[in-house]
Amino acid sequence: MRTALFPEGFVWGVSTSAFQIEGATDRDGRGPSIWDAFAGGGYGDPACDHYGRHPEDVRLMQDLGLAAYRFSVSWPRVLPGGHGHVNGPGLDFYDRLVDELLQAGIAPYATLYHWDLPQALQDAGGWAARDTAHRFADYAQVVYDRLGDRVDTWFTFNEPWVAAFLGHASGVHAPGLRSAADAFVSAHHMLLAHGLSLEALRARGAAKAGVVLNLSPVLTPAQLGDMSTGIPEEDAEAVARIDALHNRQFLEPVLRGRYPAELLPLIEKAAGLGHIHDGDLDLIGRPIDLLGVNYYTPIAVQAQPSAPADPAFPGSEGVLFCSVPTAVTAMGWPIMPSGLSLLLRRLSEEYPETELMITENGADFEDVVTADGIHDVDRISFVEEHLRALRTSIDEGARVRGYLLWSLLDCVEWADGYRRKFGIVHVDFTTQRRLLKDSALWYRDVIARNGLGAERPKRPTLETVAARAGVSRATVSRVVNGEARVSPDVRAAVLRAVQELGYVPNAAARSLVTRRTDSVALVLSVPRHGGEALTSAVVQYVTSVLEGAGKQITLMLADTAESHRRIIRHVEARQVDGVVLVPPDGPDTLTERLARTGVPVVLLGKPAIASLVPHVDVDNAGGARAATRHLLDRGRRRIGVICGPMDLVAVQDRLAGHLATLHEDGLRPVIALAGLDSGSGAAAARELLSGDQTRPLVDAVFATSDELAIGVMEAAREKGLRVPEDLAVVGFGDIHAASCTTPALTTVRVPAADQALALARLLLSRLDGRHTSSVVLPTRLVVRATA
Ligand code: FCB
Repeated sequence: MRTALFPEGFVWGVSTSAFQIEGATDRDGRGPSIWDAFAGGGYGDPACDHYGRHPEDVRLMQDLGLAAYRFSVSWPRVLPGGHGHVNGPGLDFYDRLVDELLQAGIAPYATLYHWDLPQALQDAGGWAARDTAHRFADYAQVVYDRLGDRVDTWFTFNEPWVAAFLGHASGVHAPGLRSAADAFVSAHHMLLAHGLSLEALRARGAAKAGVVLNLSPVLTPAQLGDMSTGIPEEDAEAVARIDALHNRQFLEPVLRGRYPAELLPLIEKAAGLGHIHDGDLDLIGRPIDLLGVNYYTPIAVQAQPSAPADPAFPGSEGVLFCSVPTAVTAMGWPIMPSGLSLLLRRLSEEYPETELMITENGADFEDVVTADGIHDVDRISFVEEHLRALRTSIDEGARVRGYLLWSLLDCVEWADGYRRKFGIVHVDFTTQRRLLKDSALWYRDVIARNGLGAERPKRPTLETVAARAGVSRATVSRVVNGEARVSPDVRAAVLRAVQELGYVPNAAARSLVTRRTDSVALVLSVPRHGGEALTSAVVQYVTSVLEGAGKQITLMLADTAESHRRIIRHVEARQVDGVVLVPPDGPDTLTERLARTGVPVVLLGKPAIASLVPHVDVDNAGGARAATRHLLDRGRRRIGVICGPMDLVAVQDRLAGHLATLHEDGLRPVIALAGLDSGSGAAAARELLSGDQTRPLVDAVFATSDELAIGVMEAAREKGLRVPEDLAVVGFGDIHAASCTTPALTTVRVPAADQALALARLLLSRLDGRHTSSVVLPTRLVVRATA
């Protein structure tokens, strides 16, 4: 095995971020951030208690021989209200940290924004407000004035794509909004904030400044199997569009001072272009010294005209996000070191003048703490393979100055919380004890020798097996996962290569290979009033699809704490290959506990607590928007809304869609809360219809369910109001009774059978070991007589 030494002066380091490790969220005057609000109080505390233990952590870094440490400064720790009052003790903390690092011979690299916006600024409009960009530049100056004499490498932003689109479009990150317009506008304001702060840092003498982007090559399924394949003509536009949304939306403004041509119509459609002022792009495009590249995994897409947009990629209608047939990390992210080489080749070709640094790369794998340490071979292989790819890119001429591993410590992985393990140092969150994993010891050796040694025999990968057997990686994956669609001689060749090379699939793949039971649990919670029809569709369709695929179904009822324990035991004992879960309404622990078993789980409905378990949901907010828009188009201006129980995520989404639509027209909401049945709908409606005798408070009602709408009609009748003349009514759900009311109810149809089918298919693709994301099905307004 060849050694792979790196150029002299190559920088080895690690990256972390404030919210993920510091804890102490309400100590010494820190203000609240959007992540405290989004994840719930106490979530980011104690994290790794780095705030209290930084001396110990710096010592650890010194022992590993790190040359650089990239940390982020918490804006609300420095400026608790986002601007104005500067919190002395907050700045003191970073001051001490920087001194300790310098004493340990470690260069501090500071990131100014790693997602923890002060909540006060969110309350004032957040990143959708242009003013936030100016507040950011002020904050940058405050930090620079204190640390600039000792910190010479500055990054303005970490991964603005994630902050803008997961925070404002798909809503899986703070602040949890779901508005394409806000996402594009926020992205622009983050770019503007980058430009403004860069100016400010330079004016004050910063030696090196840049920005960190999360970049992924966008490939087609054919290219994944064989990198030498070109992009099929029919997929070219889809690839270019996703590349523009994900990569070039940030690369082009920062490095070229312009937006990519194919992106502008998408921005315009969602948000208009009014937020992009003259001169902004000049400022954003001022030269940087260093581009930070975070690389974890590629993106695979192909054209599919019927595909709805992925919520995180507004404007991606007609593009199918495909699974990548390769081993995945515990996070479900496909492992593809060659993706890093592809990315670096492309950056070097398109932006040859730009110096690069890998500012994040690393992997989440479950760790087992044994008496003699944590033998995290998968994490070592992951980093090693990426370093080899990086070494090759440097040989080809890529100007990469360093590699910062993500991450030093196991820490808070955003919406996923504490269960993700990206650290090379294990943290016991009850005692805060740090324990070096094998990967830390291995990385220490890499640093000491400035590269990879020859002595560690390379663990064979899917790629090596594919090369030996003369087939594609996709084929190896299919054989390893026991899929039927492979001819007997190809299968024999692959299995021979597997044996000769001693290939062991990683944990995720292994559980699929060795433990097939061919049964699947269908776990049902007791449906609340009104949920029976959907539950029975799930039973009918999930059973027929999965049985058709040769699985045996075990039906389990989750109604008591004891039943939850029984279900977990059953799944932990690997009695099933996968689980379809119809979770209880409202927050529950069953979902997360099942997810932790490592057995593939899919959920019906969006979970109450942000979770990475893939789920099938319907576009509740979109349906409510259509319903409200319909009432507005009919000239109604005094529209009331009757909400079912607010602990139901679907109700929250419906209300959000309704409010957003009223807001677009500058109208104020009139909200009445109800329960689930028509009686409570009637009671709530009586409130709304009170007003004075001749003119009730409202002239239209949107109810978040048909049952409630039926109650509304009853209350109208009592009052002698005519529907729809005096009062228009729209429901939600299109239950059978909705078409039988007099007059017949206008409502929003929720596709029950489609949801059930999508759920079954999602589980099947997870069982095939494919990377799967959640599915959101469209809803449709059914116009009848009540509105
Ligand atoms: C990146 C983030 C970092 C961490 C890793 C796993 O997107 O920058 O904070 O969450 O992913």
